[in-house]
Order: sequence, then C-alpha cells, then structure tokens
Amino acid sequence: MNKKTIRDIPEGELRGKRVLVRVDFNVPLDENRNITDDTRIVESLPTIKYLVERGAKVILVSHLGRPKGKPKDELRMDPIARRLEELLGRKVVKVDDCIGEEVKRAVAQLKDGDVLLLENIRFYPEEEANDENFARALAELADIYVNDAFGAAHRAHASTAGVARFLPAYAGFLMEKELEALGEKLNNPVRPFLAILGGAKVSSKIGVLRKLLEKVDVLLVGGGMSYTFIKAMGYEVGKSLLEEAMIEEARGILEAAKARGVRFELPEDFVVAPEGKEGVETKIVDWDKIPPDMGGYDIGPKTVEKFGRYIREARTIFWNGPLGLFEVDLFARGTIEIARKVAESGAVVVVGGGDTVAAIKKAGVEDKITHISTGGGASLEFVEGRPLPGVEVLLDK
Ligand code: 3PG
Repeated sequence: MNKKTIRDIPEGELRGKRVLVRVDFNVPLDENRNITDDTRIVESLPTIKYLVERGAKVILVSHLGRPKGKPKDELRMDPIARRLEELLGRKVVKVDDCIGEEVKRAVAQLKDGDVLLLENIRFYPEEEANDENFARALAELADIYVNDAFGAAHRAHASTAGVARFLPAYAGFLMEKELEALGEKLNNPVRPFLAILGGAKVSSKIGVLRKLLEKVDVLLVGGGMSYTFIKAMGYEVGKSLLEEAMIEEARGILEAAKARGVRFELPEDFVVAPEGKEGVETKIVDWDKIPPDMGGYDIGPKTVEKFGRYIREARTIFWNGPLGLFEVDLFARGTIEIARKVAESGAVVVVGGGDTVAAIKKAGVEDKITHISTGGGASLEFVEGRPLPGVEVLLDK
C-alpha cells in the first residue's frame, strides 16, 4: 500500500495527542435499536486499541444510516457506544454533537488513552456537502486524522476526506487490510480467477462488470440482474426483475465477454413463483422457459451444479451480490449452497457487499473466507478501479 498508516507515526508521538478517527459504524439496527451485526465495530478495534495503548486521546466519528442532514433520535450513536465499550473493555464517552462547545469541553477532559465517540456526523448537512468550514471545525478537535472507514471511503464527505486538508492524515489498520485484500489479491490473482456477481440491478454493477471482464477467466452471473441478460439474448422472463433500460448495455457486456474470451455463465434454471414471498407455490424451470405469470426468485439445482464446477476449479474468487431473493427463506437455497461451495473451494475468496456477507453468515461459513469486506459500495468502486476520495487524501508513503 502506498499510503501512510498509523504504524508510520513514531510511537512516542502518539502519547497525549488528540487523534480523530473516522470509523464506519454504520451497522444494522433492529426496531429496538439493537445492533444485529457488529462486524464493522469489531473490525475497527485493532486501530482503536493501538492508539489507546500508545496513550492517544481517541476521538471517534461515524455516520449511521441516512438522516439527510437532520438529527434523528433513532439514528443516534448511543447503542454503538455501549457495544464498543463492551468490546473494548473500557469506558467510551459519548457526546450528543460532533462540533461545538460541548464537544470541545469533552475533548479537553480526555486523558491519555481515553475514547470519545461523537454523534452521528450526518446530522449536519455540511458533512455530505464536504463543507470546508465544517471540516475545519472537526479538524480543530484533533492533532492527527486517521481514516479507518473503508466502507465510507468512496464518499467525498467532510469527515472522510475534507478534514484531511487540515490535519496529517493516516490510514487505520482496517483501511490497510481492505486495500491490500481487494487490491493485491484481485490485481495479481492466482488463476483461474472467477467472479460471481448477483444482486438486483445491472445498472448498479455495470462498472464493475466491465472492469471484471478485463481481469477474470470466468464470470458467473445470477440474482435479479440475470434476467436482464436473458432478455438481452431474446428470451422472455415473465414477472422476473427486469431493467428495460439496461438491455442494450447487457448485450454489450455479453459481446465484450465473448471478444475477451471470458467464460460468461448465466443460470441454467430458476426457482419461479407467482410472488417473491414465503408460503407461495414454487417450481423449477429451465432458464428459457419462465412462464409469463411467474418470476424467477432463485437459481435452480442445475445452476448450483454448473456454478459449483467452476467454483471447484477456481483459485481466486470474488463474490458480490446474492443469487436470489435470499432474505426470503424459500428462495435462499441457491445462494446458501453457492456460499458453501465457495467456502469449500480452497481458493482465495474475497467477498464484498452487505447482502453477500449476510448470505455467507447465514450459510455459517464466514471462517472459511479469506477476506470479508466491510465495504459495500466502496468495495465495488475500488474493484472497478475508481479512486476512493477517503484514500486519496491520506499521506503518501
Ligand atoms: C455502507 O454501508 O455502505 C457505508 O457505510 C456507506 O453508507 P452510505 O451508502 O449511506 O454512504
């Protein structure tokens, strides 16, 4: 990695210093505001502990959800402060703002090794606008800036990018780990290199699809976006998800794959139903025989078998996007079986995207995955080769 990390700060220089750490604590909460998956908090612990152990005064800042520039009680950071406290085994002071007098006072009271968590930074519209004065006000709280929020590194916001104009800026360990896994492992892959892309929309994956065609040997496509490809090949998809506006684009991708000699594989069969919900009657049909009054909601057994053969042969696998409507148990089977096959492959496996990670966890195979990214959009943009604003602003090595 060509960016400086917190390891590049001479150890003695951290004691007593105020370090503003941008973390991505945008974790899922249930209706009672219980955290349903704390991975992003757990993954930020190495950076926080490293700074605490060296006597820094750690000021953490994150967004949570999309409050659109206004305070929203249900998106306050309090449940996260409590979970962090449990995980760290030390007190975490939480303040109800991100800038201003109350925050300055709390910072002034910090002792070496203390941890402070600021309020949801997106309560201010200036955050997403990357407002210079707001970034300066944040920077005034600290002596050093650390970005460990890989999941938000594709956003050019005040706390992810703007603040680095005013403070020396370093990568945290999670940021480093993500950039190395997604960069090194996928840029210099052991071959055969296989990518699995799923999820609802071709439109949100078009950039990454094109980029992957330059890199992979095999591309397996499933999930909602596969129907647009089937339509592009001239077949009917019934009530399945279809992006009419992307049909031409999909045709272009199919041609590009052929021209590059990439094996581009679509599902052989689908689980179809009148609706994508629990309790409905389903049947399995070949890919070119989707009935007009039904939609496809999962890949069928022939597809699991065919995709499984490619997965067994692969030595590097990148996976983003579920292969069916896996949040509905009735349609989770294909994605879960593929998750198991990926885990058993023995290949270097890199997985990104919240839904895909949830599928890996539902299959209970997370221990067998080489790297599970904490980034959704960020991991896609990075694989696409787009510069991430939150990384660009960090000091070069
Ligand atoms: C994510 O969950 O992908 C990140 O936290 C970024 O969130 P955002 O898409 O709301 O910017």
